[in-house]
Amino acid sequence: MGTPEPSTVAHARLDQQIQALETRLAREQRRVPASVIHDRVRQERARFANARVLTFVPILVERAVRAGIRSGAESLPGWAERTARELLATELPRRWAHTQGVARAATRIAHLVAPAESDTLIAAAWLHDIGYASPVNVTGFHPLDGARYLHDRGVDPRVCALVAHHAGAAAVAELLGLSHELARFPDERGPVRDALWYCDMTTSPTGEPVSFTDRMAEIEARRGPDDPVVRALAVNRPERAAAVRRTQRRIDLATSLGPRMARMSAA
Ligand SMILES: [Fe+2]
Repeated sequence: MGTPEPSTVAHARLDQQIQALETRLAREQRRVPASVIHDRVRQERARFANARVLTFVPILVERAVRAGIRSGAESLPGWAERTARELLATELPRRWAHTQGVARAATRIAHLVAPAESDTLIAAAWLHDIGYASPVNVTGFHPLDGARYLHDRGVDPRVCALVAHHAGAAAVAELLGLSHELARFPDERGPVRDALWYCDMTTSPTGEPVSFTDRMAEIEARRGPDDPVVRALAVNRPERAAAVRRTQRRIDLATSLGPRMARMSAA
């Protein structure tokens, strides 16, 4: 065995530095999915594939990735929107129209939650129904499939859990024998979760605002009495209604007091 070429040693060293950079950025940038950081680091590194001097490559890659994160191009809601569009727009245009409506509603009421949480709410709104897309669908239970897909891509665990539990999913999981799998994701039961449920349950299948009562009637008519989602309404309808009611109360409070005071009184 001969001594390795100096350039081979330099490239191996660069590989290690790039790997360390990726790990550091993923740990530090909790709001950006790890898979996004991985892709961005690899893209930037590829730009230097033919560089003859490698010393500055890690710092140039880091600078470019950080600039992308700062500009918001890699923000969680931005990534969520792109991901939902890629998965839903062509294959399931009606589901995509609904998703856009839910995200619009979430953006409209994002002032109700703490500023640090509004990105979480909006991202979850974009992503809540991706489990219907064929690359994501594994068990046929879309909240669980969506949450697992996001978890596997290093998305913020809170967003995964919000997707897993949206709109009374636990009662449906019970009927499908998937409670154990769903329990891996905690249901946070707070204002952000209520707001996501509210947005989903006051947006029609084509993305227009509707009342909670009309939305429930539409679900029953479209799915029929044997569908687990409809059967689960016997258990989760009050829970769904309560989340909508609590959010409506927060909206009314914010309208009369102003969002900041409303957030303080809800805390
Ligand atoms: Fe939905």
